[in-house]
Amino acid sequence: MQANPSWHLSPSNHTLCIAEANRKRSSHTTLIHKNFTMSSLATLQKLALRARQAAHAPYSRFQVGAALEAKNGEIFTGCNVENLSFGLTLCAERTAVVSAVAAGVRAFRRILIVADSREPIAPCGACRQVLAEFACDMEVISVNLQGKKYRTKLSLLLPRAKVGILDRPCST
Ligand code: THU
Repeated sequence: MQANPSWHLSPSNHTLCIAEANRKRSSHTTLIHKNFTMSSLATLQKLALRARQAAHAPYSRFQVGAALEAKNGEIFTGCNVENLSFGLTLCAERTAVVSAVAAGVRAFRRILIVADSREPIAPCGACRQVLAEFACDMEVISVNLQGKKYRTKLSLLLPRAKVGILDRPCST
């Protein structure tokens, strides 16, 4: 059966739709198109900080924001979304990945995470594995509210993420 074409948005169409939506509610840019150019860390940080404000963290009160930069230049943001059934909580990194994949984007360059912590935080184990699904070697940058930064590679945080599983090597 042929799907309704309006349900099939290419990433660029999606970008246009989001841009349109953003014009309407100007303060919330969740996705920007950069024509394959890299955004500055300052831009990623600004978007992650804005996403952090949307965090649903009534239990931990620990708000986290993430900005995930795709290889095509688009940026997807995420925040943590907690649940009364604590184990269902989603971290900011995973909500950003889910948002990108739902928009048809799967190749990522780097992710920047922001939280109010003494030391810049590092993604939890579950998020490391979910990020590795799409880009084992992506850059991970973490910043606290004082601007202290920690930069590393996902492959250092989670070595051999996929090796052996279903006999597939890590090729992303
Ligand atoms: N959290 C994230 O969103 N990202 C991380 O890298 C670490 C932890 C969230 C999950 C939970 O809502 C809260 O922070 C406390 O663990």
